[in-house]
Amino acid sequence: MTPHNSHLIVVGSGIAGLYSALLAAEAGLRVTLVTKGELVSSNTFFAQGGICAVLEPESASAGDSVEAHIADTLKAGAGQCDPEAVRILCTEAREDISALERFGVSFDRDVTTGQRSLGLEGAHSAARILHSGGDATGAGIAFGLIRAVRDAGALRTIHIREYAFMSDLMVENGRVVGVALRTENGPQKVIGDAVLLATGGAGQLFEFTTNPSVATADGVAVAWRAGAELADTEFYQFHPTALAVGDNFLLSEAVRGVGAVLRDRHGERFMPRYHPDGDLASRDIVSRSIAAHLNSIGAAAGESVFLDATGVESVHGAGYLARRFPTIDARTRELGFDWRRQWLPVSPAAHYWMGGIATDSHARTSLPGLYAAGEVACTGVHGANRLASNSLLEGLVFGRRAVAEFLRVAESTPRSLPESRAIGHNERSCHCRPIQSCDILRVSAGALPSSAVAAKTALRDSAAPLSLKALQRLMDSCVGSVRDAVSLQNALDEIETWHNASREQRLTESSASKQDTAELENLLVAAWLMVHAALSRKNSVGAHYRSDFPQAPAPGRSSPAHSIYSCGYP
Ligand code: SIN
Repeated sequence: MTPHNSHLIVVGSGIAGLYSALLAAEAGLRVTLVTKGELVSSNTFFAQGGICAVLEPESASAGDSVEAHIADTLKAGAGQCDPEAVRILCTEAREDISALERFGVSFDRDVTTGQRSLGLEGAHSAARILHSGGDATGAGIAFGLIRAVRDAGALRTIHIREYAFMSDLMVENGRVVGVALRTENGPQKVIGDAVLLATGGAGQLFEFTTNPSVATADGVAVAWRAGAELADTEFYQFHPTALAVGDNFLLSEAVRGVGAVLRDRHGERFMPRYHPDGDLASRDIVSRSIAAHLNSIGAAAGESVFLDATGVESVHGAGYLARRFPTIDARTRELGFDWRRQWLPVSPAAHYWMGGIATDSHARTSLPGLYAAGEVACTGVHGANRLASNSLLEGLVFGRRAVAEFLRVAESTPRSLPESRAIGHNERSCHCRPIQSCDILRVSAGALPSSAVAAKTALRDSAAPLSLKALQRLMDSCVGSVRDAVSLQNALDEIETWHNASREQRLTESSASKQDTAELENLLVAAWLMVHAALSRKNSVGAHYRSDFPQAPAPGRSSPAHSIYSCGYP
């Protein structure tokens, strides 16, 4: 096998990247799997609550159905989902969960019935969340898939490239033909018939985040620079319950699913005041209600609310919390809390980007030769607010669909392909998302002329120099779960000033050869896309809440409005 000449190059080693690399290798393709750290360095690894799927026979005892999963996903997405993509996600979940189990991933089972145990999370009408190792679902999935990938690597069907940072996509005659890498041995190129981006999200845009340090928007930024269309970038989800001390450790929504509740410093269980679903309302509602409630009680700056799990063991029995949530139990003990007896201070933290590279239902982007799956993509399944535990599922379903589509195209234009097998749903018809035709805000080249940037730069010579911390603080203070025109405009001005300065600096020195500088530049692109779209959307929907435009989009709209961006970064 020649590593520099692959059929499919997969970038990213979360659930979408690992799974699609395995499926492609099973189909006989030569696969190169690129990741900037080790294979375990992904957001997937930290997922706690689980992965959603309506399966037999478990769904019958839970009174659940695929239709109910679809309805919950659409409702959480606040009218912004693509209904066809949601139907695909929920109906095809079954086969991907079976494939995960075939690759060695095991889900927790009830000791008496032997059936897979199901968790409940916010905005779900039934318990349907599969989990592994209690609250270590992401780690269970990652380890299972990595073992299978390493076995494939040993058989030389997957060429694994760890510590290889993708600096850009290679595009020839409008087609993506490979990736440019920075490695410890210097710059390298990997050529392939197609590239699948599965690089995850952009949690490092914010100081308070549940995401690991690798979440630096690399996939979105390279796709942007290559000219791909991006969609819905204003929609960013804040998880309501990150531990307010230490490293913003995630406290899974599944904890509220077993009966924990939110309280303020007076002990008031406040969520029922804000929404009929109380503590299990959707994440956007809970995160905003926390902010509104703290405001209403005259909270001091930095004050948090509390997650009270002290009643859980009186319902589920002694030892339940440590058994069901071993990761949370261990981490909170390390930090000096006994959550069986003490409330845990929590606050909302940046968690998941619903927007990303626009894809159709076969994970195709607007650029020939480029596919995207997982958090980096905007498939339309999450709309304006992702339903809890749909993200791992999305990575599986659309990662598989990308590989199936690659094979379909390869079979119809035979080149060097081996005899390939069909993957999963070998669907021939195209269900492209009507990106071109829907009611959209479209921003393209020349969004801000450089002369205007230069003028602003001159006026803003007091701006703080760009650093990761400065960018994160700006985003935390101006682009959180409640936004308005003044703070968004401030953020946009600052970001454009930084962008201009970093471009000028790049002309004089090769600073972008350092990975952390390149990551910061990628985050700056993501910040611009998020802030520009948030400023342009003058209404409130899902995770995007404008205090100056609190009204929802006009009712009766036949097609939801999407913000679509393509290569207009100044
Ligand atoms: C959680 O366990 O609360 C996180 C799961 C998710 O983000 O879907």
